[in-house]
Amino acid sequence: METREGPLMKLKITGGRRLEGSVKVSGAKNSILKVMAASLLADGCCIFSNAPMITDVSTMIGVLQGLGAKARAESGRIVVDPSSLSGYEPPEELVREMRASIQVMGPLLARLGRVRVRQPGGCDIGPRPIDLHLKGFSALGAKIKEERGFIIAEARKLVGAEIHLDLPSVGATENIMMAACFAEGTTIIHNAAREPEIVDQQNFLNRMGARIIGAGTDTIKVRGVRRLEGIDYTIIPDRIEAGTYMCAIAITGGAACVENVIPEHLQAVISKLREAGIDVQPRESSIWVSAGQRPAAISVRSMPYPGFPTDMQPQVTALMSIARGTSIISETIFPNRFRYVDELHRMGANIKLEGRVAVVEGVESLTGADVEAPDLRGGAALILGALAADGETEISGVQHIDRGYEDIVGKLRGLGADIRRVG
Ligand code: EPZ
Repeated sequence: METREGPLMKLKITGGRRLEGSVKVSGAKNSILKVMAASLLADGCCIFSNAPMITDVSTMIGVLQGLGAKARAESGRIVVDPSSLSGYEPPEELVREMRASIQVMGPLLARLGRVRVRQPGGCDIGPRPIDLHLKGFSALGAKIKEERGFIIAEARKLVGAEIHLDLPSVGATENIMMAACFAEGTTIIHNAAREPEIVDQQNFLNRMGARIIGAGTDTIKVRGVRRLEGIDYTIIPDRIEAGTYMCAIAITGGAACVENVIPEHLQAVISKLREAGIDVQPRESSIWVSAGQRPAAISVRSMPYPGFPTDMQPQVTALMSIARGTSIISETIFPNRFRYVDELHRMGANIKLEGRVAVVEGVESLTGADVEAPDLRGGAALILGALAADGETEISGVQHIDRGYEDIVGKLRGLGADIRRVG
């Protein structure tokens, strides 16, 4: 959305309206960004359907173009043609802007034998090291150098290896999986992350001609091949966007259907919302959510998949801010993922932070206020608070939210919310 002064970066929400009807979930941000990177391995063109039109996708298009590949969005699809791939250094300013840019390291190492990338700094939610990515690359035979804030990885040839991840890192699992596609022999990744987006990446790579098994479990096996071909592929739905709308319906005491989802990907979220007394009915490819009264207080601990997703921690904390009783929300994945709490305080929430634990005393109701989104999911939490609050809330920093939620204003208005973009 553009105006003379540039994109509209604030939202105005008048709360108190029950959300009803239905909302359609878009493709998964945390899948499309990785399969776009993986498409650099293909000999031909890849076309991705059900791709979310979000700013992180535009950024990844910029990264691929910066490497010499052709990439563009057209009518809800992403087209990538890597045949003109020439660079091995993703544009520094884009790596700074979006950490997921480092997911091109595996494909570039596999395809060109070389990659040079700016050391990805910490971000809104804490330090974001990539030591496990580098551990995997060097196990495959790459030489790693770090100089002047850049990481250079080089390998004349990659040879399959057994790699044990110290922790089930999503990005490291995906980057190593991609690097191993052309390695000589077999690579085994132990203690791999098990997220559905990794299964999506395995399915995409195998459709291109890779030979990978085990994604979705903690052990992934990759048998190197010589080439991969371009294919058309449809991205899985975004389970975090789905969970966000489920919490939006719940916090407003609404009743509505969240469509185009894979309920199995949301088991932990479904279970926790039910524990809070919310009626959640999974169907074939949708989930019905109905909340009569204030939710009951619950305890939540973010964990690697299939545990409760850290990307849903801010949203469930916002929901618990109006619960009956005291909730304990523990964040075990990222050290700094409660920055939105100060903003919820301005809306009257009663939350005490003790390290990585939030003690949430539910209040009868929140009150509209002017608040600032600190990051993507924290911004989503503020929208949820505003939907339930008495009166009007103005949220600035909406550029964070636009990174991962396609048409959030349109989708919430479709559910009956009073929300609009302002300058
Ligand atoms: C992915 O980030 C997601 N991003 C994140 O979603 C998500 O929160 C995270 O996985 C965990 O599920 C994308 O997929 C684009 P990790 P990633 O590597 O891959 C530490 C959102 O809101 N770690 O699993 O960066 C790391 O510091 C975003 O959509 C190392 O120590 O996550 C963190 O504490 C936010 N060394 C933990 O592991 C490493 O080499 C989990 O990180 C790598 C990670």
